[in-house]
Amino acid sequence: MQIKHLAAALAVVASFSAVAAEKRAAADTTIVIKFSHVVAMDTPKGQAAERFKATAEKLTKGRVRVEVYPNSTLYKDKDELEALQAGSVQILAPSLAKFGPLGVKEFEIFDVPYMFPTKQSLSNVIEGPIGASLLQKLDTKGFLGLAYWDNGFKIMSANRPIHATTDFKGLKMRIQSSKVLDAQMRALGANPLPLAFSEVYQAMKTGAVDGSENTPSNIYSQKVHEVQSHMTITDHGYIGYAVIVNRKFWDGLPADIRTQIEIALKDATMYEKAISQVDNDRSLDAIKKAGKTTIYTPTAAESAAFRKAMLPVQQEMEAKIGKEFFQSVVKAAK
Ligand code: LMR
Repeated sequence: MQIKHLAAALAVVASFSAVAAEKRAAADTTIVIKFSHVVAMDTPKGQAAERFKATAEKLTKGRVRVEVYPNSTLYKDKDELEALQAGSVQILAPSLAKFGPLGVKEFEIFDVPYMFPTKQSLSNVIEGPIGASLLQKLDTKGFLGLAYWDNGFKIMSANRPIHATTDFKGLKMRIQSSKVLDAQMRALGANPLPLAFSEVYQAMKTGAVDGSENTPSNIYSQKVHEVQSHMTITDHGYIGYAVIVNRKFWDGLPADIRTQIEIALKDATMYEKAISQVDNDRSLDAIKKAGKTTIYTPTAAESAAFRKAMLPVQQEMEAKIGKEFFQSVVKAAK
């Protein structure tokens, strides 16, 4: 080969390896954000997590890669909070019930039956100073609370009709690990059984639990309607989420990336709130259509009786969570 050609060939090789080196460097500096959650992809939280991924990756032009792990594929409920503290994942959206057992007892307010009669009453609380101060309380756990996401009101399910409080007698009811939900099920005469979300279907199938409470979206996407013959639309309580990140990870992000992620999260939050009710309505319809479960809407008198049975839990929790805080929520919820 002539000297001239050899030099040209070497130049091409050099430029190829420069490009490869650049690509390698880019890959090495990619910021990976692991987003773990326990529900199915086809839920408000699951869809919003996917939307956040798409927007964050687009806005950061690939400098950030978001890996979403739905359906407890990476961690179950309690484990995911420990994993976030340890920095093994970077972002979560646990249900608000999961923060009480962590020691932030004010979050128990969200589990109190009949505390929030409408979505409006909820947003009066979470979008205002109370919501902001609650997120701040997560600082002590090494978390930073960035947003609230919505799911919906809970319905009851079992393998027998539930028309009256006496129908709960002796039923083993799965609950999220929450003192309030424990008290609520006991007030109904049921036996509460805390269980990770991922274990609910199997526990129902084998008869380890008799029933549960959850939103139509969570029920349908976990196929709970295949292992429960009856559901009653009680709307007695609420499930929502706090989107949280590991504080150290967040503070360590380059400022421009942090800004883009904040924008992506705002977008995902708006999206989540827009689809949550629609998704729950659609799920309730789908449960009806599947034809394996009888869905019952209680009469006004039956609803009043459920309410009467669960209302003492409000008083009990007012003393436990703190009278002043409790009353401030009652006022803001109006
Ligand atoms: C549950 O455990 O029932 C829910 O908190 C699951 C979820 O994240 O919606």
